[in-house]
Amino acid sequence: MDNGKTVDAWTFNGSSPGPELRVTEGDLVVVTLHNKDIEDGVTVHWHGINVPCSQDGIAGVTQDAVQPGEQFTYTFVASAPGTYWYHSHQMSSIQAKKGLLGSIIVEPREPSAPLSSATDVSALYQRMDSTVLLNGSAKGLNVPGKAGEQVRLRLTNGDNETMNFSVDGAPFQVIAMDGHDLHEPGLLDGDMIPVGAGQRFDLLIRLPESSKVVVRSESAKSLPIMLGSGNEPERTEGGKMFSFIDYGTPLKDDPLRMLKPDRNIELRLGQSLFVKTINGRSFHEIPPITAKEGERLLISIANDGGGDHPFHLHGHTFRVLSKNGIPLKGSPVFLDTLLTKKDEIYEVYLVADNPGLWMAHCHNLGHASMGMSMMLNYE
Ligand code: C2O
Ligand code: CU
Repeated sequence: MDNGKTVDAWTFNGSSPGPELRVTEGDLVVVTLHNKDIEDGVTVHWHGINVPCSQDGIAGVTQDAVQPGEQFTYTFVASAPGTYWYHSHQMSSIQAKKGLLGSIIVEPREPSAPLSSATDVSALYQRMDSTVLLNGSAKGLNVPGKAGEQVRLRLTNGDNETMNFSVDGAPFQVIAMDGHDLHEPGLLDGDMIPVGAGQRFDLLIRLPESSKVVVRSESAKSLPIMLGSGNEPERTEGGKMFSFIDYGTPLKDDPLRMLKPDRNIELRLGQSLFVKTINGRSFHEIPPITAKEGERLLISIANDGGGDHPFHLHGHTFRVLSKNGIPLKGSPVFLDTLLTKKDEIYEVYLVADNPGLWMAHCHNLGHASMGMSMMLNYE
């Protein structure tokens, strides 16, 4: 690592993170995975991209792990623009930590006006041993730019812990969560941005006249992202936590009002002594959600303790309807990974529109391997 420490890492094309893949909305993406010498086998999961089930990279479910000397070619259409990432899904709590992850950015075919001229920067965080790395580096990131220019910063949390980001030096907008644009997002100033493990937040920041902008999180203090030029700005302490519950603007003709769910499902995330559980049971014993194609599910997800549980569903995007019983008042929010904290309860709405066998699990991958994983299976 570039702090002088040596670690035993696993790599894609010789580096961790692997190459940043940049494709354009609508592209057919073809990626061949060759396993040179990872004994336990490897796969690639395209986190947040709604690929066909056979391309989802789940060892033991959608494919066999690719053994040393073997290969597997993934093919899918990058249909929705946004910030996504990829990681091995063979013993993922070990392999992602060892370094088998990277960013995949789907750029819009026709970017809208202010964004087309913004500098586009992706910032992928991971943890190796105990060191947090930013784009593979143990140093910070410097993004040059002049006053008045805009930067689109794509934050991806590839660690297992929630990261709380501060933005010092300029007001900013959260323009997308998990790759999905927010509708007319307002300006924030000094707010802390909580990014759960596996989640992505895109920030839009206009560089100020007088100073740099510094983005950092407490778990990666030594890894500031410095934007622009000039002096370092003052640190804003104790900004309030950003909440998407009333952020942005509701849609005028929101189709959701017409859509009644067909079925309600309740998931309680918790822990008993050494296992992490969903509805009191752990993986393999948790009954799968069985859905018919086209079915509309209302899923309530409650965090009964044992830490933050960022709940990730494969192959689908869900919409968050409420938090702690309060309906969302701002922009619609579409996610593939929902950060839940102790005693929080969310309702999400999901259309079962991608047949197959899909995993749903906590993206604290240690929790997932301790049982907080289940399946959504189509009939
Ligand atoms: Cu990024 Cu099943 O996970
Ligand atoms: Cu968890």
